Amino acid sequence: MDVADILQVLFRWIHIVAGILWIGLLYWFNWVNVPLGAVLDGDVKKKIIPEMIPRSLYFFRFAALWTFVAGLLLLGLVFYHGGLMFEQGAEGWGLPGIVMLAVVFLFFPVYDALAKSSLGKNIRAFGAVGFVLIAAIVYAMIYWAGFSYRAYSIHIGVMFGMIMVMNVWMRIWPAQKKIIPALKEGTPPDAALVARTAQRSRHNTYLSVPLVWTMINSHTVVPGADSPLWLLGVVLVGWGGVTLIYGKSTKIKGM
Ligand code: HEM
Repeated sequence: MDVADILQVLFRWIHIVAGILWIGLLYWFNWVNVPLGAVLDGDVKKKIIPEMIPRSLYFFRFAALWTFVAGLLLLGLVFYHGGLMFEQGAEGWGLPGIVMLAVVFLFFPVYDALAKSSLGKNIRAFGAVGFVLIAAIVYAMIYWAGFSYRAYSIHIGVMFGMIMVMNVWMRIWPAQKKIIPALKEGTPPDAALVARTAQRSRHNTYLSVPLVWTMINSHTVVPGADSPLWLLGVVLVGWGGVTLIYGKSTKIKGM
């Protein structure tokens, strides 16, 4: 075992613990806190929210950051340093590979513009356009840039993860810093900010389930799993599962 192996184990450990904390809180916000908010009256909310949500958001945003930083370190160590990027016989780091990395790392502004446009108001249409873009990126990674199975899979996950972490730090947290004090003072918070946090939190929930598949993908041994259709199928199945859980979350009653 050399230093790189020890670092890899350490980064994986930090990455997964932080990831559990982040995504666990994300699910708690979406599937427990939102339905709970719908049955609490204004006075109770005024007392509970300014105490409970900042505490939750502290762990939420820093867990997101730690997951991201440890994930980037893993990416450098396992894929760029470890030479797992390309299929045998592929050109390696040529223009297509660099362009596809740029797409992954610079995708947030594209996502953000689409989410802010009128398309962002309709989650099904937004999902359909998103799916076509994901499929195009997967195919370009494989058939243009020559990325290996593990490499295209993890880079789709990294693209999702980057959107999610930027949503947390650049969209959800700045909005919550205005929403929570307004609720505490008993004034109605800016409806546009509330809608934006809800939208981004929902998008993150939808992205998280396929993301976890891409993270654990190198352990997948089902026949044909290296076909791009698997990953695209997982995205659809994951989104279907999230929709079902949202539906269930509004039907669970208190005692
Ligand atoms: C935020 C952006 C993220 C980046 C840049 C990232 C990056 C990575 C990388 C490069 C790996 C190594 C994959 C391999 O060895 O083949 C990995 C593994 C993993 N990641 Fe992430 N990740 C991110 C988010 C997440 C999140 C939100 C979770 C949720 C819990 C997560 C859970 C995992 C798990 C479970 C593994 C598998 C470790 C293993 O197989 O030993 N990641 N991630």
